[in-house]
Amino acid sequence: MSWPSYITYRGLALPPGAHSEESLEYAQHFSVEDTDVFAVTYPKSGTTWMQEILPLVLSEGDLTPIQTIPNWDRVPWLEEKRLKEVVHKLSSPRALVTHFPFRLMPQSFFSSKAKVIYVMRNPKDVLVSSYYFHQMAAFLEDPGTWEEFIDKFLEGRVMFGKWTDHVKSWKHTDLGDRIMYLTYEQMIQDLPAALRLIANFLGKKLSEEVIKKIADHCSFKSMKGNMMSNFSLVPKMYMDPDKSQFLRKGIVGDWKKHFSSEQLAHFSSTIYKEMEGENFTLPWNLSDTAEVADVHT
Ligand code: A3P
Repeated sequence: MSWPSYITYRGLALPPGAHSEESLEYAQHFSVEDTDVFAVTYPKSGTTWMQEILPLVLSEGDLTPIQTIPNWDRVPWLEEKRLKEVVHKLSSPRALVTHFPFRLMPQSFFSSKAKVIYVMRNPKDVLVSSYYFHQMAAFLEDPGTWEEFIDKFLEGRVMFGKWTDHVKSWKHTDLGDRIMYLTYEQMIQDLPAALRLIANFLGKKLSEEVIKKIADHCSFKSMKGNMMSNFSLVPKMYMDPDKSQFLRKGIVGDWKKHFSSEQLAHFSSTIYKEMEGENFTLPWNLSDTAEVADVHT
């Protein structure tokens, strides 16, 4: 099956299928409630993980949603067609995810009290994850070679545009205490600690027992075995697990097996250049070459 090319919406390239001009307009006019919680991510930074975590935190550990509702209906994407179909089924407080940059959030979001958890991941691992995802997802453009995909990513010729633009847009908001920043690496390092931060931000008092229960159900292994979360309900013609699994490795530092030292120098210097003059620093040392495997030289 061949897919039509990406839609361009207000300067952003988006894959067809899940998105349409109508779904994007619907998102613009979406009526945000004060109690809404958005997990915002650049693709491949931990979106699906947050679709597991948020319902569990908000319901104080009720497993029913993660065991009975597919992740895309449980915590829908703001920008996708599916939202319109499921919005009336969402229980309050609603949890949603989005890959939108800040400027594309619905008008009603800006004047609401809705909260945002912005999850960032080391862009080197985002790139690797995305490269494999492009191989298994039929609705995404062919990534080309690894070398070519590095440049596509750095130049923003990928869905949802440049990683640096996304991060900058969400770092420059006037949301004050409505936004919390979290990294994928923090969640890998100590998930219970990350869950405590999330619960605290959302005003939930969870016992250590509930925190442990949520962490167990949100482990990579549990999610990989949960057919409501591992995308195995998606027909193979759309996502082919023989090419790559959606829940692929779930680790920090897989980039070490993919970048040559030259590619890493090019990647990190390009990202650092884009970050020049910013009033925040990235929580990773992108040019750390110490552990690069000699895979491409
Ligand atoms: P990898 O491809 O590196 O394995 P997104 O949901 O934003 O598309 O991100 C997908 C990435 O998050 C994949 O990374 C996936 O394995 C990882 N991921 C999802 N759930 C996870 C979990 N419970 N623990 C660790 N990583 C997880």
